[in-house]
Amino acid sequence: MMLSAVASLPQQHRRPSRITIRGERRSDVAAREELLDAAFGPGRFAKSSERLREGRVPARGLAFTALDGKRLIGTLRLWPVTAGAARGCLLLGPLAIASDVRGRGVGADLVWRALREAKRRGYRAVLLVGDPPYYQRFGFSAGNTGCLRMPGPYERDRLLACEFVAGALKGARGMISADRRRPSWFAGMIDRVVRIPVTQPA
Ligand SMILES: CC(C)(COP(=O)(O)OP(=O)(O)OC[C@H]1O[C@@H](n2cnc3c(N)ncnc32)[C@H](O)[C@@H]1OP(=O)(O)O)[C@@H](O)C(=O)NCCC(=O)NCCS
Repeated sequence: MMLSAVASLPQQHRRPSRITIRGERRSDVAAREELLDAAFGPGRFAKSSERLREGRVPARGLAFTALDGKRLIGTLRLWPVTAGAARGCLLLGPLAIASDVRGRGVGADLVWRALREAKRRGYRAVLLVGDPPYYQRFGFSAGNTGCLRMPGPYERDRLLACEFVAGALKGARGMISADRRRPSWFAGMIDRVVRIPVTQPA
């Protein structure tokens, strides 16, 4: 599906004006991880999508933070992947919004912002594993993913994609894999450090 809607992102938002979205900063990492723990629980590291992210860094310019004042309330990152033989693809996620500000359009704003920026940077398609009823509104469907596989267990009808370039995923079959870029030891180290509990048990 062509993501023509990205070009016409609605200007009206339900998002309160004090909520802002900007590129993720290193100082966001601890709060981001806390939010992801709260949203997904400890099982988040067992997800197949995590196999495509662990020890790597997101695509340049494609990690976003939503803030309410100074408080981090939302996170979304996109990761470079190869889908079968299809290049120029991204994996979207994890997307999480703090539970007390859900339903105000912050998640949608993050997704639209990320898709617009990914398209601007020349990527051809975005993939994700997620709930179709949520992601359909952005142009995602399982129509082009039937012959693709994730590196681990996943529900087939939750593997979704949207194309910026029509036909970008046409005929794509096989494993979705992390882009050849070498895993970043630094990203892995930062992630491990922020997961160390601040308060040690007595
Ligand atoms: C899913 C999530 C990111 C949505 O963020 P949000 O800021 O509340 O989303 P928005 O305000 O942009 O959109 C809210 C709409 O999406 C719907 N929605 C939210 N989660 C949904 C889901 N999993 N499936 C279908 N619809 C969903 C809401 O019912 C609401 O519908 P409405 O517009 O008709 O009222 C947020 O609920 C969240 O962080 N959940 C926990 C983590 C998670 O599940 N992440 C997504 C992984 S697939």
